[in-house]
Amino acid sequence: EKETRALKDRIKKLLKEQNGVLVAHYYTSGALQDLAEETGGCVADSLEMARFGTEHKAETLVVAGVRFMGETSKILNNEKRVLMPDLAATCSLDEGCPHELFSSFCDKYPDYTVVVYANTSAEVKARSDWVVTSGIALPIIKHLAEKGEKILWGPDKHLGRYVQKLSGAEMIFWPGSCVVHEEFRSVALERLKKLHPEAAVLVHPESTEAVIELADVVGSTTALIKAVTDMPNREFIVATDAGIFNKMRQLAPGKILMEAPTVGEGATCQSCANCPWMGMNSLQNLEEVLKTGKNEIKVSSELALKARIPIRRMLDFAK
Ligand code: 13P
Ligand code: SF4
Repeated sequence: EKETRALKDRIKKLLKEQNGVLVAHYYTSGALQDLAEETGGCVADSLEMARFGTEHKAETLVVAGVRFMGETSKILNNEKRVLMPDLAATCSLDEGCPHELFSSFCDKYPDYTVVVYANTSAEVKARSDWVVTSGIALPIIKHLAEKGEKILWGPDKHLGRYVQKLSGAEMIFWPGSCVVHEEFRSVALERLKKLHPEAAVLVHPESTEAVIELADVVGSTTALIKAVTDMPNREFIVATDAGIFNKMRQLAPGKILMEAPTVGEGATCQSCANCPWMGMNSLQNLEEVLKTGKNEIKVSSELALKARIPIRRMLDFAK
């Protein structure tokens, strides 16, 4: 306790000295999320994280999350220094979508509008027409479908199918998925629902179709947190990374929150709902990067220029 407080104080001092601000995702540890808020930074979903960096005056953005979040910040703010606690914090969606292969896939469908999820590399973003996050994917796809555009979607096939179903858009998919959200089990979830008939089921759209079908609310991390505070239910079953419980408990202390099951048929672990890459961020390595200036995100200005266009398109659409 005392040690953690001292560590936090040192980080606060370093942030101030370096005119830095901490931008954290809801899946990082409670300690990091709380520190971000205590120091005037933000805790957010990936859409708000991207926007926050563009609106804040700090010279250094410290992004606690996974690599694509730091890269997006750098792409949008090329003049700022962007640091990350651990540069090896990747994402299975990003890993599963190498840009050369993705680019050849796109080349095969020249009359398709390329829409990519934010969970991708700068190169993949640069090859796209639109970048979307889970918080804005559906309105953007609906908008494109209304204009009669055919969509090449990558890399999350579950989110892709979900938005296709609701929008009726003509879409083809890159076959990627999130290793964390794929672990939720629909049969076990149905069982848990029967035990708690009053509970609302909140599901992140990176989950499988069978799990999404059992949801009362499907949405981004921000949307799921909002559901806990806004819905009258007392109990919630939550299918997303367990890091989200920190903010949910803070905002709705009286509510009963349950993890959606990752055990049952076909599951490979007891409680899988912890993104291993988000877990690479800690107060310790945060202090280290602020002290040493290591782990700076670099994106060439040529690449940033290309990747910025589809990201800005999303931010302008979301306004
Ligand atoms: P959100 O944009 O909903 O925060 O999701 C990011 C993510 O990586 C979910 O796994
Ligand atoms: Fe990527 Fe899934 Fe981790 Fe989100 S939870 S960062 S989608 S691996």
